[in-house]
Amino acid sequence: MNLQEKYNNPITNEKINKLLDEMTIDEKIGQLNQVGPSPVGGFEISLKELDKMLKSGRISQQEYENSVRGMYSDLREEEVRQGKIGSFLGVKGVDKCNKLQHIAVDESRLGIPLLIGLDIVHGYRTIFPIPLAESCCWDEDMFEKTSSIAAKETAASGINWTFAPMIDVARDARWGRIAEGAGEDTYLTSCFAKAKVRGFQGNELSNPEKIISCAKHFVAYGAAIGGRDYNTADVSLQTVFETYLPPFEAAVNEGAASIMSSFNDLNGVPCTTNSFLFQEILRKNWKFNGLVVSDAGAIGECVNHGTASDKKDAAYQALKAGIDIDMNSSSFSDNIKLLLEQGKITIDDIDRAVSNVLRIKIESGLFENPYTDEALGEKLYLCEEHKSLARDSARKSIVLLKNDGVLPLEKNIKIAVVGELANMRLEMLGTWRGMGCEQETVSLIDGLRENGINFVFEPCCSVDGFFDKEKLLTVIKDVDIVIAAVGEYQNMSGEAASLRNIDLHGRQNEMLKAIFDEGKKLITVLFNGRPLAITEAVNNSNAVVEAWQLGSQAGNAICDVIFGDYNPSGRLTTTFPNNSGECPIYYNHVSTGRPTSEIKHSCKYMDSPLTPLFPFGFGLSYTDYQYDNLVLSKAKDEISVSVDVRNIGSVEGTETVQVYVKDCVASRTRPVRELKAFKKVTLKPSELKTVKMVVPKDSLMFYDANMKKVFETGDFEFFVGHDSTAVLSKIVTID
Ligand code: GLC
Repeated sequence: MNLQEKYNNPITNEKINKLLDEMTIDEKIGQLNQVGPSPVGGFEISLKELDKMLKSGRISQQEYENSVRGMYSDLREEEVRQGKIGSFLGVKGVDKCNKLQHIAVDESRLGIPLLIGLDIVHGYRTIFPIPLAESCCWDEDMFEKTSSIAAKETAASGINWTFAPMIDVARDARWGRIAEGAGEDTYLTSCFAKAKVRGFQGNELSNPEKIISCAKHFVAYGAAIGGRDYNTADVSLQTVFETYLPPFEAAVNEGAASIMSSFNDLNGVPCTTNSFLFQEILRKNWKFNGLVVSDAGAIGECVNHGTASDKKDAAYQALKAGIDIDMNSSSFSDNIKLLLEQGKITIDDIDRAVSNVLRIKIESGLFENPYTDEALGEKLYLCEEHKSLARDSARKSIVLLKNDGVLPLEKNIKIAVVGELANMRLEMLGTWRGMGCEQETVSLIDGLRENGINFVFEPCCSVDGFFDKEKLLTVIKDVDIVIAAVGEYQNMSGEAASLRNIDLHGRQNEMLKAIFDEGKKLITVLFNGRPLAITEAVNNSNAVVEAWQLGSQAGNAICDVIFGDYNPSGRLTTTFPNNSGECPIYYNHVSTGRPTSEIKHSCKYMDSPLTPLFPFGFGLSYTDYQYDNLVLSKAKDEISVSVDVRNIGSVEGTETVQVYVKDCVASRTRPVRELKAFKKVTLKPSELKTVKMVVPKDSLMFYDANMKKVFETGDFEFFVGHDSTAVLSKIVTID
């Protein structure tokens, strides 16, 4: 079902037409103009406030300096008063948002309220795990709940639009923005996309506890060659339609009210001026009725792409292609009027874009309710209910990668903790940390203290190269068990953070080896925003806990898992390579004519193992599960899958049962297997449950050599199990 239809209703259309009749050309162009701040610190943040934020640790010295340098002397209030700005990016503080709305509503000629947007990707003040971590929950309810809380806190801050969810499928761990999405699989990312739109927007866009969502980055941004951010994406149309577009179609069908174009060119055409994407796919095929916003500065950057001679040319192309709002490049505000006077564009071109913007402003209830209760936020931010969900989502995002039985630990033992990341709160918040701040975040050390654990701590080793072996040997001398916190700083993933080398940085491996050589039991806890090449670390550890960047409650969640209060249930949504050279690497690859094998003349690297370090879907538990009795039954439009799952261990656990399908023979090469369904099941020791799922026949369609979407009859092999290496399978002929 496509929820876009609700935006195209007679009442809203009548309001739009009435406003269009009254608006001057400057006022119309103003609605297409979004102004963003210069670096951290928003707009008119006062020096006093900045000093307070610095002293309280809410911003670093660097952020303080950026903010002082980037402060606006005025808030462009006059331009708002004249109706020359329709939306803002990055205004922080409910008082500032209300002030801007009052100017727009009370002091401009037509009183059109503002859209005020910010990247609230995984939390506003209560910060949830980064999306790549949260996706390891494989839980649509959780995805929806966390974004619903994020929306509630965000709405209370005066912000009414988030630039999220980010739903770029990512197959290359060198690309820093892999941190922001749901990993390498299209189906899981599509489930994530739908749940996030529901959470942010709810059923009614005008609900004061909801905000406008923005599915980004449209499209194939994650296909950047070499994993280098902003690089070209050169992919077949079949891959665009089979891998990168489906999550956006899912978001649009769920009612996403806005879409953001991506920086990259797609096969030579910048997405920002790509009429095929916006007119053919988005508007015509998907019936999208929301608004399209460019990424920051992306319209102006078409000059750098070499496809626009200047910003006027870029503005012309972007408007004609279907961009409605120019984010922070001033290409529209500087050039649209001139283009109209020169007859290069028509008033209809402008009215189409203005209508899309007004439509979402009307549908979000802003005309009736532009202001925010300034006392609401502090009652909501980091309240117990929100912190509890932050802790629950965090521990469910943790993936146990290795355990020789050392975990879970008893709480009454003495342990040593090393690695600077154990005591770094801000690093737990990851990229796009919203308004999350240091003193409201629980580090691993905080968590150990709060849980009454008897431990000694010495950093001994930094991420970026410091290592004091002598201090290490001293601090671990009197203990049998060591927890080592290693990984990345949060600014080593996210935007503009691509790495050519994803080995464990600095001398962290040296530290782990030194602990191993001392014969200690080593529990390595990873803090990272991407898969890392951690083969050496795994070999030197008794247990490896993937703790990503888990947000406000990171330390408590990690303790819940390490001390057995929660049985880890996370499952990887990205493949972990053995080394950087294997990137890009993903499970749903095609077979090739010489499938990977020990045979020399086969598809592989001579200097790398044949299988990844950890496969997609992988994750250990403190118990174990047995799969039996796989039954497939065909119906007209779907295949039902039934399997018995038993908990054969001694503790209760939650398993994610995964169904993968291989199209055995087709007119184009098909992936060796693709995730088509999954379901979580909680089992007590020895308990058996029959888990039933359905695979729609339509989900087995693909694009043939002529780009026709087809279903081809034949044999399909269904694999059911614990991860993408599942061997329990059955073949069924589907006609
Ligand atoms: C950035 C990002 C985009 C974000 C926007 C506004 O460059 O690419 O994801 O929403 O600018 O902050």
